[in-house]
Amino acid sequence: MTGFSSEWLSLREPFDREARGVAAQSLKLPALGARLRGADPRSTLSVLDLACGTGANLRELAPRLGGSQQWTLVDHDPRLLEELPVVLAAWTRPNGFVFRAEATCMHIEGPGWNAKVQPQCIDLALEFDTVPLAGQRLVTASALLDLVSASWLDALFARVSAAGAAMLFALNVDGRVAWDPPVAGDEEVNRLFALHQHRDKGFGLALGAEAAGFVVGRLQVMSYDVARAASDWCINAIEDAQALVMLAAMVEGMGAAAIEQDPTARSSVNDWMQGRSRVLGKTRLRIGHQEIVAA
Ligand SMILES: C[S@@+](CC[C@H](N)C(=O)[O-])C[C@H]1O[C@@H](n2cnc3c(N)ncnc32)[C@H](O)[C@@H]1O
Repeated sequence: MTGFSSEWLSLREPFDREARGVAAQSLKLPALGARLRGADPRSTLSVLDLACGTGANLRELAPRLGGSQQWTLVDHDPRLLEELPVVLAAWTRPNGFVFRAEATCMHIEGPGWNAKVQPQCIDLALEFDTVPLAGQRLVTASALLDLVSASWLDALFARVSAAGAAMLFALNVDGRVAWDPPVAGDEEVNRLFALHQHRDKGFGLALGAEAAGFVVGRLQVMSYDVARAASDWCINAIEDAQALVMLAAMVEGMGAAAIEQDPTARSSVNDWMQGRSRVLGKTRLRIGHQEIVAA
């Protein structure tokens, strides 16, 4: 369950972007970027993105953080890392940014910001000690925390705090799932899906939807100044053809996870999938997410 296809990442990205755009206003990211640079506004802000996938977190944060930036993008999936130059180049073109790829790094220039980007293939579960934390000013991850365990996060927080870096964790599911219209079986599938989220994804028993609350509690105890903002997915198939594709993928994925969690529920989960498919074109789904910034 640690394989994420680039198709799924690109399908979810517009919904991630919309959700994070709302949250970004209250998180005041340009001010965070300026604060992390300290006295010299021209200094380079070093950012480490854990479990980067195809770079969605950089696309979201780099223009908002502003100024000169150096990104280290870490993932364990070499196929996703190989796609980075193509995906980043495709993002820069319509936005009018300048993109240049070299053998081991990429450079992007936008209005008021520029970033040097270096990918690294590291398994965050098995090779955690090799993650380059020294010298980082900001450690970030999007859509990762539900996959990891409490002990893995404690080890991360100890290293990040020793490095003196701030943290920004985006798109942390918080367990709120609201289907409109409801159909029979919603609650049962939501319950099984939530249980499935706690399965070990390589990092120990996963925190699933409890990750956001755990992280806030731990970082406050460590005396970080913690801010959070809702970044809910609002997927509305009534207004948006892309939302219909996203919802179909979610019904399939949640149904498959529910059956894997409880094979005896196969028949009722199949009924739920059929019921959901019948109303797909008039469905709205809200999935609760939280953004967390600790500095
Ligand atoms: C839900 S995706 C999020 C990707 C990206 N951050 C985004 O927001 O689009 C989870 C990412 O975690 C990565 N991942 C899962 N297990 C990992 C591990 N043990 N080490 C490094 N990356 C891992 C996957 O390859 C995938 O890119």
